[in-house]
Amino acid sequence: MILTNLLFESYFQDFNFDEFMARNPVLFGSGQTRDVYEYKTDFVIKVALGNNGEKHINLNEVNNHECLTEKYSAKIFDYDRSVIAGFQGPKWIIMERVKVNPYGSMMKLEKLVPIDDAIMLELKRDPDRVFMYFSFALDVVTTNKRRSKQAIAQRIADGFKGEWIKGLIDRLKKCEVDSFDFHSLNWGVRESTGELVLIDYGDKI
Ligand SMILES: Nc1ncnc2c1ncn2[C@@H]1O[C@H](COP(=O)(O)OP(=O)(O)O)[C@@H](O)[C@H]1O
Ligand SMILES: [Mg+2]
Repeated sequence: MILTNLLFESYFQDFNFDEFMARNPVLFGSGQTRDVYEYKTDFVIKVALGNNGEKHINLNEVNNHECLTEKYSAKIFDYDRSVIAGFQGPKWIIMERVKVNPYGSMMKLEKLVPIDDAIMLELKRDPDRVFMYFSFALDVVTTNKRRSKQAIAQRIADGFKGEWIKGLIDRLKKCEVDSFDFHSLNWGVRESTGELVLIDYGDKI
């Protein structure tokens, strides 16, 4: 399934990837599969590295955005359609820019998902550890693979209640997204609304 009702279609119709890259845009993030550049202050361009399988990550992300909805994932406004017709997927996508700050994201998470004080103490309120075990806990409830044997993940999962987390679990069960790797840098806060959203959701389970 390919994203259809793109908002801002006309706003982005002038985007030309080759011209964009020729102007030496500011690289402000890079992961294992993508380089991420600033675009018009409110957006980022995510460029798949390599020429082969890595481009699938952008295709998965486009499809997963539709499945996760903008409640749980940074919005995707446009992508390289010239490539999506082929088998590799889009070289670039235009995504909403959000605030990536592990501590700020953890504070949002604590408001959305009750995590026992004793657990938070055990994790030293360290955002990296909190999100790591949170993602293991999601894995526990959304797959039957149980890739983490950590008891703490089960304890976090046992406490899952509330509309936000229930909705997220529901989406994760339906979407082809791997929740095992939702570490702290793969989340961000949408500044206009204060919502916690995923920014890196192109990995397939
Ligand atoms: N929508 C976004 N808003 C702000 N920063 C982003 C956004 N998407 C990615 N980044 C930054 O770029 C980095 C790499 O992007 P990511 O999607 O995680 O790529 P990869 O799949 O290669 O890990 C992120 O850790 C983050 O710092
Ligand atoms: Mg990443």
